[in-house]
Amino acid sequence: MKVDFRAYLEAKYALDGRSLNREVLQNLKQGLAAKRHLRCLDLGSGTGAMPKRLIDLCPNTSLELTGLDIDAGLLDIASEQLTWKLRSLGFQTEKIGPGITARRKQQSVRIGFECATVLDWSPHENTGGFDLISAHAFMDIVPLQPLVEKILDLLVPGGIFYSALNYDGDTALLPVYSDEEYERRILDHYDRSMEIRRIQEMPTGGARSGRRLLGELAAAGFAIHTYGTSDWNMTPVNGLYRDRDAFCLKSLLAMIRGEASGSRGFSPEALADWYSDRSRAVDAGVLGMIVHQLDILAVKDSAHRV
Ligand SMILES: C[S@@+](CC[C@H](N)C(=O)[O-])C[C@H]1O[C@@H](n2cnc3c(N)ncnc32)[C@H](O)[C@@H]1O
Repeated sequence: MKVDFRAYLEAKYALDGRSLNREVLQNLKQGLAAKRHLRCLDLGSGTGAMPKRLIDLCPNTSLELTGLDIDAGLLDIASEQLTWKLRSLGFQTEKIGPGITARRKQQSVRIGFECATVLDWSPHENTGGFDLISAHAFMDIVPLQPLVEKILDLLVPGGIFYSALNYDGDTALLPVYSDEEYERRILDHYDRSMEIRRIQEMPTGGARSGRRLLGELAAAGFAIHTYGTSDWNMTPVNGLYRDRDAFCLKSLLAMIRGEASGSRGFSPEALADWYSDRSRAVDAGVLGMIVHQLDILAVKDSAHRV
């Protein structure tokens, strides 16, 4: 199976929604509740998962949202889907280029899209900073320390950084494979591929991005408000998967195989056998996968509390 990244992002939306840490999310909601107008920046926005969630989380707030991503095609999909979402919620919408302006009684939502690499991007105008910066399944693929410094600069004092679904070092496939040691090596290789990734010659959050991010945020002077697990639980219930978990599972198996197939440590034949065994187990509704992740809510300036 070739991974269709756009389809994968869409399929994992429901899985992510089930997995987000409820306590962290509730505290985010409380932290935003008092504001009638919010300026938000979503990093690595993809097809707009976090902007969609924010619209639901702040149903009475006027929002100015910026979705930033390196991939213009994904941002086009985000623009299309957010327009549908706003219309379905009763907003009158107008498209201005890829951006959206929407109005419903006294409430307005403006969404802009920026196609850029996060570390090279700066706002076009100095508009005084963002109230909220979010990153949803993103911090494992970017260098943490310079990005945390940048987020600190871009937030207003008391501004919130919400970073959800940060991979944190464990992918488990269940039940145990017939050759347990072989599968352990494949999964270790998958984690190692994240650990050796370099962006602009810097290491990224990698396979332990959750706990590393926590350390970087504290070192940069953020107050850590709440954090907790947001593990993906793609296990079958009575032989049936929830939502679009079967597709997510198959996409993840293909990504794991893709990493291993670039290594001399795995023969193509043995890897193909492993992959077809595990894919058949998805078809039979017996394979489970649990992926350990962390959600973090942090505030700029310890004098300010959510
Ligand atoms: C795992 S996806 C998550 C997308 C979305 N937040 C979600 O949860 O559905 C990571 C996203 O980051 C984008 N991306 C990767 N590197 C980037 C960079 N250096 N700057 C901006 N976006 C980047 C990718 O194009 C992709 O859309």
